[in-house]
Amino acid sequence: MIRNETYTLSNGLAIPKIGLGTWLIPDNEVAAAVKSAIELGYRHIDTAQAYGNERGVGEGIRGCGVPREQIFITTKVAAENKTYESAAASIGESLKKLDCGPADLIIIHCPQPWAEFRGAKRYFKENKEVWRALEDAYLAGKVKSIGVSNFLIDDLVNILEDCRIKPMVNQILLHIGETPSSLVEFCKQNDILVEAYSPIAHGAALKNEDLARVAAKYGATIPQLCIQYTLQLGTVSLPKSSNPEHIRSNVQLDFTISNEDMAALESIGQDYGEDSRWPVFSGKRQV
Ligand SMILES: NC(=O)c1ccc[n+]([C@@H]2O[C@H](COP(=O)([O-])OP(=O)(O)OC[C@H]3O[C@@H](n4cnc5c(N)ncnc54)[C@H](OP(=O)(O)O)[C@@H]3O)[C@@H](O)[C@H]2O)c1
Repeated sequence: MIRNETYTLSNGLAIPKIGLGTWLIPDNEVAAAVKSAIELGYRHIDTAQAYGNERGVGEGIRGCGVPREQIFITTKVAAENKTYESAAASIGESLKKLDCGPADLIIIHCPQPWAEFRGAKRYFKENKEVWRALEDAYLAGKVKSIGVSNFLIDDLVNILEDCRIKPMVNQILLHIGETPSSLVEFCKQNDILVEAYSPIAHGAALKNEDLARVAAKYGATIPQLCIQYTLQLGTVSLPKSSNPEHIRSNVQLDFTISNEDMAALESIGQDYGEDSRWPVFSGKRQV
């Protein structure tokens, strides 16, 4: 059962292969989604300071009836915090809002503030400072693992060249139609686990007729095909849903995509069409 399967991070910590994404689930609704997911066997929840729902995620975890130590919680230092002090304060605020003891994973949400995403200023010096705050939180036992998100190869090299603790994950945009293979390979070589965010292309994959045909071949839905694809690449998959039926079916993955289909899916491009307005693709807003 995929719900029970884990990867092992470079520090030995087990991380469930599938996590529930919670971006855009409001604070007052997310506890229900979290409880529903945990009841259905999920043991990994992904939130962020920027999602404004850490309080509700914590409420869902505390009230779900499963012991805290069996659940893996990830949160993120907001992309706009680019000093040691603001990052350390952000970590403290997140832990307080979650109110679930030490977090399992805290990551830098983005190498640049969202308003400057993939712009000319790279924030290399600032990211070293933010990383130092994460390392200190890790060494103080406030968090069990640390990592980054949306980091490109040179952003990672910047941290790797003089860090005390290597990033354990890089959470990146990865779905059929958007597979940054060299970045994934670089992470593998450096023992950094890749987490695939927006595995269903933020919902855009649902309208793709080519994917519908491949999914039908496996008796699967498009979301199931998309999630299985990310898992077969050896990445953590973070599908978001607040619909209990979707939450349930997204972990019913009893098929294997053939090598031939994996290669074909890995090489296709994606035209997001009207969905390119979404900030996850334009990168111009907090995600
Ligand atoms: N680190 C970052 O910068 C970053 C950026 C973006 C996302 N993330 C993380 O990754 C998570 C997932 O990404 P995402 O929220 O962009 O999108 P996603 O998981 O690719 O897609 C979510 C969309 O698909 C729908 N959906 C899910 N399962 C479905 C099913 N079985 N049938 C039909 N529709 C289904 C959801 O609607 P329903 O709710 O109605 O099911 C929602 O509209 C986020 O929630 C967040 O935790 C991280």
